[in-house]
Amino acid sequence: MKRFRQYRKSQEIRDQYADVSVAVSDFIYPYFVVEGKGVKQEITSMPDVFRFSIDELLIDIEHLLSLGIDKILLFGVLDNKDKDERGSAGYTAGNIISAAVKSIKEHFPHIVVFTDVCLCEYTSHGHCGLLHDHDVDNDTTLPLLAEMAYRHAAAGADFVAPSAMMDGQVEAIKNRLTKENLNTKILAYSAKYASAFYGPFRDAAGSSPSFGDRKTYQMDFRTLNQGIEEIAADIEEGADWIMVKPAMAYLDMLYRASQQFPDHPLVAYQVSGEYSMLKNGAVQGFFDEERIFFESLTAIKRAGADYIISYYAKEFAKKHIKS
Ligand code: PBG
Repeated sequence: MKRFRQYRKSQEIRDQYADVSVAVSDFIYPYFVVEGKGVKQEITSMPDVFRFSIDELLIDIEHLLSLGIDKILLFGVLDNKDKDERGSAGYTAGNIISAAVKSIKEHFPHIVVFTDVCLCEYTSHGHCGLLHDHDVDNDTTLPLLAEMAYRHAAAGADFVAPSAMMDGQVEAIKNRLTKENLNTKILAYSAKYASAFYGPFRDAAGSSPSFGDRKTYQMDFRTLNQGIEEIAADIEEGADWIMVKPAMAYLDMLYRASQQFPDHPLVAYQVSGEYSMLKNGAVQGFFDEERIFFESLTAIKRAGADYIISYYAKEFAKKHIKS
């Protein structure tokens, strides 16, 4: 008989035998940015997560930094009246994300800023690319994503993060950044699945497709090797960091990615639906919130993630500082 219980006798002993840990420095906190002043609007399906106007965002970031979190990911959220077929508001000189990045970098030069590069938040039809015959048109979308990435990068973003799942988007962006002499890095949403777990995000960002779904461009969750091929292609196109998304239902893909691409920092996105499940379950008293998010985040690290984009980052950091 092998005696395993000796490893579990007390908290100190369990701590000694732990193989995996989660640190505050592992986190990237997502922010939804809106136009206007004095806006701090809680998202109904995601308690404790807000849409901020830039002035309020700066106040929140100060708090975030005081918790030890120094990496953020920005999403633009637009009024419907500001959207059009081509998602123009996403890549004009005055786009909301470039304005946010400039302002953030002025106040907090050391924070690491990632920006989401996708058309769905800006198009009237809510799809991630230009439309042609009721489907997204891959190749005509690429220059627009490159333009958006260029604008964010020129404003001072440290990383641009293309999430539209258009083939060739990383290469198009890399070429554009190189041409402009910008050394902004690329975090590629490489293995991004067409997932029901994005439900609350689409409510938060107002980015639901007005017809159809995203299955013609985001990955089918029944595929296996395609996820690895998507990541390999992004690396070949110039991705600096890679991502698997969502996280908890895709730990196998995270593990595979961490084994196959050990030289590229691997990011897991614990998406809105994962957060809402845990948060709303905890609010209803079905489980202890601190334990459930700690266990979930640890599992994501154990599967091989180097960094986690999570709406739970702040709560993790608060508990971490206390304990
Ligand atoms: C697309 C984008 C989405 C998310 C991140 N980037 C939505 C989608 O692809 O439908 C989802 C993030 C989340 O659910 O937390 N710009």
